[in-house]
Amino acid sequence: MANVITRTVSGATDWFTQRAPGFLPFYKKHMSEYYAPKNFNVWYYFGSLALLVLVNQIVTGIWLTMNFKPSAAEAFNSVEYIMRDVPWGWLIRYMHSTGASMFFIVVYLHMFRGLIYGSYQKPRELVWVLGMLIFLTLMAEAFFGYVLPWGQMSYWGAQVIINLFGAIPYVGPELTEWIRGDYLVSDATLNRFFALHVIALPLVILLLVVLHLGALHEVGSNNPEGVDIKKVKDEHGHYKDGIAFHPYYTVKDLFGAGFFLTIFAFILFFEPTFGGLFLEHDNFNVANPLVTPEHIKPVWYFTPYYAMLRAIPDKLFGVMVMGGAVMILFLVPWLDRSPVRSIRYKGWITKTMITLFVIAFVTLGWLGLQAGSTTQTLVARIFTFYYFAFFITMPIWTKIDKTKPVPERVPAHD
Ligand code: HEM
Repeated sequence: MANVITRTVSGATDWFTQRAPGFLPFYKKHMSEYYAPKNFNVWYYFGSLALLVLVNQIVTGIWLTMNFKPSAAEAFNSVEYIMRDVPWGWLIRYMHSTGASMFFIVVYLHMFRGLIYGSYQKPRELVWVLGMLIFLTLMAEAFFGYVLPWGQMSYWGAQVIINLFGAIPYVGPELTEWIRGDYLVSDATLNRFFALHVIALPLVILLLVVLHLGALHEVGSNNPEGVDIKKVKDEHGHYKDGIAFHPYYTVKDLFGAGFFLTIFAFILFFEPTFGGLFLEHDNFNVANPLVTPEHIKPVWYFTPYYAMLRAIPDKLFGVMVMGGAVMILFLVPWLDRSPVRSIRYKGWITKTMITLFVIAFVTLGWLGLQAGSTTQTLVARIFTFYYFAFFITMPIWTKIDKTKPVPERVPAHD
């Protein structure tokens, strides 16, 4: 019996290999013979977790689409219908809405890992740039998605964000009209945002993720030590500090996924709206163009940039600052002039600058959620200034900071 099974399996494998000869080499290159540094730590979970959340968003999104009605007259009620009447609809909806926030948590931590371990440095600049393109697309995707349930915050959030384009000289007013497809946020706007949210941008994100991983696998992964593992090989030509991605990291990533899913499930079942942070209270009221909510604010993952926008009195300048805050991240690989990658070998200047950066970013995120008193605006201005100073002066402080020599091999403690 065992013989028959073995022969059938190997026969099927041969049949497949003859017809798709490129498959096995592809699998080897990216899985069983992709030698990743042996010292990955927890920070290296977030890439695979981002993939996991991406799959969650796509799968739950498909199921939501089955009952969602993309029209101004029906959208809000169709979401309520999903929540109350569709079997397990509430779970699918919360998996998607809580999943969106989890996506940003995971991606922000993933980007932060890049910052502390200098993962964007040569030869991984392209990996970073593709990551940034994913980040931009993800922001647009989240924005369009938030408009779809047609709640008060969906409507007024869209109104505020689209109106920002109106600040652009000459073309502004026409541009906002073109984006909305109407003179005000309306059915036409909801329809096109639906098209962009469910098909156009997910396709772009998927393509970018493939390119992101392709670019990474061409040059190989960085690691917490920033050591180049390609320098030292054994007699078989394998990196001494590398281990095969499959099975070692597939198993490790599965553990990370289990841990993550436990936390995800906990939030999902006990606090899906996260006290109004993941789904705002105002969005449980249907959109009303005649009643402006008292305090319009975006979801938490946009609030650091929103705080910057509000901190600047001039509208156009505010929009430029907000956009610039995201765009400047593209330049990080060229702003960092440090001879070493990992923070472990960098000096106190880098450590201080990065700590202050985290404080500035988190505080701005908090400020963006507040009403914006005079003191809050002042603090937002100071931290906005620091945010930009961090990047603009990066070539200087990364150059003058005293670094430690990086070892040839991954140290034994790792
Ligand atoms: C949907 C979003 C994303 C997905 C699914 C994704 C996926 C991945 C995966 C699976 C890895 C390899 C595992 C790891 O190193 O953690 C990786 C590495 C990397 N990603 Fe992403 N990523 C995403 C977004 C981003 C963003 C927004 C950035 C930065 C702007 C970024 C920058 C990087 C860098 C620099 C590496 C190499 C890290 C190293 O070798 O140390 N990624 N990504």
